Amino acid sequence: ISAFSVREDGYMYCEDVRVQDIMDNEVEEVRPFYLYSKRQLRRNYEAYQEALKGLNSIIGYAVKANNNLKIMRCLRELGSGAVLVSGTELRLAVEHTGFDPARCVFNGNGKLLEELELAAQYGVLINVDSEFDLAQIIEASRNTGKRIKVLLRINPDVDPQVHPYVATGNKNSKFGIRNEKLGWFLEEVKKHSENLELVGVHCHLGSTITKVDVFRDAAVVMVDFVKKIRGENFTIKYLNIGGGLGIDYYHKGAILPTPTDLIDTVRDLVTKEGLTLIIEPGRSLVANTSAFVSHVTGVKTNGTKDFIVIDGSMSELIRPSLYGAYQHIEFVAPPAEGAEVKTFDVVGPVCESADFLGKERELPTPKRGDGIVVHDAGAYCMAMASTYNLRMRPPEYWVADDGKTVEKIRHAEQLDDHIRYFEGL
Ligand code: LLP
Repeated sequence: ISAFSVREDGYMYCEDVRVQDIMDNEVEEVRPFYLYSKRQLRRNYEAYQEALKGLNSIIGYAVKANNNLKIMRCLRELGSGAVLVSGTELRLAVEHTGFDPARCVFNGNGKLLEELELAAQYGVLINVDSEFDLAQIIEASRNTGKRIKVLLRINPDVDPQVHPYVATGNKNSKFGIRNEKLGWFLEEVKKHSENLELVGVHCHLGSTITKVDVFRDAAVVMVDFVKKIRGENFTIKYLNIGGGLGIDYYHKGAILPTPTDLIDTVRDLVTKEGLTLIIEPGRSLVANTSAFVSHVTGVKTNGTKDFIVIDGSMSELIRPSLYGAYQHIEFVAPPAEGAEVKTFDVVGPVCESADFLGKERELPTPKRGDGIVVHDAGAYCMAMASTYNLRMRPPEYWVADDGKTVEKIRHAEQLDDHIRYFEGL
């Protein structure tokens, strides 16, 4: 089941609602917006729950993928924990969403002392990323009087076979600890046992992974570390294998690994070692819950290129520009009679040539005002949106649990919001 589909009448639906009807009747703004399916969010979460049956586990939602409060609250209500990478994400998750700190992990290669102190106060798990990070974690423990539960982020040197910008677990990556340094870290933790409790190991290979064998490869390496560390008299409870499961961006009917496929590659190892598995999905929980809906502004031709110019842009959705990422593009209504199909670049109004949402897409020639969607926009799209060209961030809506009711889940950013940053200066 997918949230967005073109039905027999030629219209795109989000659950049981025509996207065209949402554009015409539900959305107040005339600008682009993000549209989500709450049901899809639930389905995605339940797929992980189902996959993890029979294991002790924590699902830690990677909030960086999408920090909409309504989405975070929905996941928290479903039982999710959270993976946080900044002090503000931490505060949003613990203070404003109510995530259980015992099911939260604070992670990052450049965590600041003040952020670590906050994490210590809340009592979330903290990943150790480097020598200086460990020193600061000890300092945060002293300053707050809290004994901190830590996981060592180990760099397992497994190639996830993805875009270099989103590969993180290879030898020369800026993340994690190399295995030859493990002994030093264990000594340090022992020395500071009044400040630190070593409870687990963590790795994260990268993002958009579509071959689950790499998770097994990493888990084998990690379990080896667990054994070594246990051999040094530590009680290791958690194996955190990070996030990274990819999704079907191409919409060509490919069969991609599911959460069950992923968990099943590591299940025997986790069970045998009596570990609690932590998994940190972002994209695979939220990407396909949303489409970014824009309107066609016009069609033009330059040289040999045909362009569809829309009112959405790289400011709202930067993945195609930044990573050359493919996100599927479709119209929300059937084409007009006789509309010529051509190969178009789909571009926005921002003043640079990097501003495209799709390149060389076969599409029927549209007319002004037609609705057009960029699919799989729930992860790393709104979360990476900027106000470049002073384009105010778009509103967000979802189709609620009944599959019919449309609700606003985030206001459109306004010029007033921008002006507020300068008040009284
Ligand atoms: N855990 C850690 C430690 C991570 O660094 C990440 C993502 C995740 C979990 C979640 O990974 P996911 O399940 O979402 O793949 N902006 C890029 C993706 C960057 C991913 C960063 N780390 C994109 O738009 O493709």
